[in-house]
Amino acid sequence: MEKSMLDIIKNTAEFIRAKVGGEMPRTGIILGTGLGDLVNHIEVSAEIDYKTIPNFPVSTVEGHSGKLIFGVLGGRPVVAMQGRFHYYEGYDMKQVTFPVRVMKALGVETLVVSNAAGGMNKEFKVGDVMIITDHINLFPENPLRGKNYNELGDRFPAMTEAYSKRLIALADEIAAEKDFRLMHGVYVGTTGPTFETPAEYEYFRIIGGDAVGMSTVPEVIVANHSGMKVFGLSVITDLGGKDITEVPSHEEVQKAALTAQPVITLLMKEMMVRM
Ligand code: HPA
Repeated sequence: MEKSMLDIIKNTAEFIRAKVGGEMPRTGIILGTGLGDLVNHIEVSAEIDYKTIPNFPVSTVEGHSGKLIFGVLGGRPVVAMQGRFHYYEGYDMKQVTFPVRVMKALGVETLVVSNAAGGMNKEFKVGDVMIITDHINLFPENPLRGKNYNELGDRFPAMTEAYSKRLIALADEIAAEKDFRLMHGVYVGTTGPTFETPAEYEYFRIIGGDAVGMSTVPEVIVANHSGMKVFGLSVITDLGGKDITEVPSHEEVQKAALTAQPVITLLMKEMMVRM
């Protein structure tokens, strides 16, 4: 007999709870490409390799190590995903978003997501940090397609405030206080693994996008479906458009993400203190 998705989520959460012990964090963090350094600022109490977690997919891409980390950041208990599952790796949407379901089952109420993204907004510079104010889902599939479990969320969830206005305002307040440059923008989520053609960057800009990347949107849809508050940020690692001739590469993306790390760390820590 086919095991229900609800049982699979519950079993995985139970495994993690037993392994970690103690009270579960109410804040989850997904660390994107090149942003894994934030982990070095977490006072780690437990680490679980994805490989050892029942029902978890295994991460394969270079620069994504694949661990679930429990600890304290800015005085707040957190669970962080070091490495995420991308649609372009071949995982289906249920696999890509499975860890978010598990976090919810553990008691996570607020999800912080980060990624590396290409900038289309002409104001943006490489190394900028962009708060995601909204997204455009251009993945060919919605993670909620198929049977809806009412226990997990509504059949037709609203996405009106997919990114919490309160958390965006808080980040702005921190940026103003600490005097660092913080951009706002709409994230376009697409499958990859190709970077965009100049015409595609242009197209994404025209339809309302400020940055484009290959992740985040599926996880944010599922987080909203399950009633979580979401805060998202992108590091602008390359720029694209019809007059831009620089060729993006994975190495360059990782390097550029690293330059933004001090701002990300400062912002994330401070967010944790004040959330
Ligand atoms: N396009 C898509 N995904 C990305 C990019 C980009 O330019 N940069 C980093 N991730």
